Amino acid sequence: MKRTKIVDIFDPALIGSEVCVKGWVRTRRGNKHVQFVALNDGSTIKNIQIVFDMAKFDDEQLKPITTGAAICVTGRLVESMGKGQSAEIQADKLEIYGTADPEVYPLQKKGHTLEFLREKAHLRMRTNTFGAVFRVRSVLAYAIHKFFNERGFFYLHTPLITESDCEGAGAMFQVTTLPLKEIPKDENGEVDYTGDFFGKQTALTVSGQLEGELGATALGGIYTFGPTFRAENSNTPRHLAEFWMIEPEVAFNDITDNMDLAEDFIKYCIRYALDNARDDIQFLNDMYDKDLIERLENVISQEFVRLPYTEGVKILEQSGKKFEFPVYWGADLQSEHERYLVEEHFKRPVILTDYPKEIKAFYMKQNEDGKTVRAMDVLFPKIGEIIGGSEREENYDKLLQRIEELNIPMKDMWWYLDTRRFGTVPHSGFGLGFERLILFVTGMTNIRDVIPFPRTPNNAEF
Ligand code: 4AD
Ligand code: MG
Repeated sequence: MKRTKIVDIFDPALIGSEVCVKGWVRTRRGNKHVQFVALNDGSTIKNIQIVFDMAKFDDEQLKPITTGAAICVTGRLVESMGKGQSAEIQADKLEIYGTADPEVYPLQKKGHTLEFLREKAHLRMRTNTFGAVFRVRSVLAYAIHKFFNERGFFYLHTPLITESDCEGAGAMFQVTTLPLKEIPKDENGEVDYTGDFFGKQTALTVSGQLEGELGATALGGIYTFGPTFRAENSNTPRHLAEFWMIEPEVAFNDITDNMDLAEDFIKYCIRYALDNARDDIQFLNDMYDKDLIERLENVISQEFVRLPYTEGVKILEQSGKKFEFPVYWGADLQSEHERYLVEEHFKRPVILTDYPKEIKAFYMKQNEDGKTVRAMDVLFPKIGEIIGGSEREENYDKLLQRIEELNIPMKDMWWYLDTRRFGTVPHSGFGLGFERLILFVTGMTNIRDVIPFPRTPNNAEF
């Protein structure tokens, strides 16, 4: 008999019919007359209750039905008398696919901590919490493609292996086929890359932006959506060494257009998740964060504050608040500062613009004041920076000057500079950290809990 997914089983039209469900056992309880099994197949947060009339089954048959076992049940779907569920299945036939020895199955007991489950990342998707989180993740990924597709953007695939350090932070993972035991050196004692796979030094990309700009100045509007890698040793609840980023880049957009796009985009994604992953978000709201749904509704119903960095620093200086890191004009803001502005001062998301050029990347458009650049960071409650972006410097001479000031090796940049030599245009873009968006939408507090297999310092198992 064809299987019905549990997400589809609560359809009132199915009541009275014969159905077949397959899944993993969450719990079994009951007595010698009747046994109840809660079954989940991952298609929804909801379990289906299966009722075994022990006049039809014997104890031995049900013995392997322990938490985590995989089974197939055929029976009649009936309205349920029990509270909290609309339907249940009266079992006729049982097939056991795989047992899960309760003595050793790691998820036998309920109520494990998130830390414990992080050590069991290979199994944690079977829990209610992680099932919900990863369904929300998938729904958000779809929303992102839908948003850009509806607006005529093209999805551009940018390379993962690259020569250039877009953000200039030097936090790249090197990619090499050179023998590490015997690294070839030239006469100056420097590593000789001529025998390396690409004949030069390469690394995993920190951002698809530079190639994205090539796409935008040809196709008009593009977005990337792929993994990016950063070897920064920041062991925080908001940093991963491998994370996913969405980077739209649009020809002819200025910084205001860029802010409008970012605000529309992030609101669209949150709305889409609320409408299409409601049960999961409700579950996370009830279990972890009673203010979650209210916070999400709040963010989409309010206009984001738009504020120059200089004004933001003034507010922080005048706040009278004791921060761990000092604030002054020129300081790179820490998440405590960002969250003060968002959570305490304005009580809604803030787009901070026009940062000092020293703390931002080389490609940002320089303002007339000679001190600031047309940067924009979108700051969110609980998260801090969720988006970073800017209008780009489209003037060849100014861009080249900045590249030289920062000692960025010119030979690596000729292809990027060509966009400014041939048909240069004003253009803008930004990067959204996908996991930071998922943190916000799920209310989870550690970024390791919103990516299936987190990569962080000293952690690359599974
Ligand atoms: O601010 P970032 O470094 O900007 C860029 O990479 C630009 N090239 C984007 C662009 O203009 N096209 O990173 C963008 C976003 C951050 O706002 C943050 O949400 C996320 O990426 N992010 C990280 N997320 C998880 N772990 C990390 N280590 C992250 N670093 C940045
Ligand atoms: Mg940034």
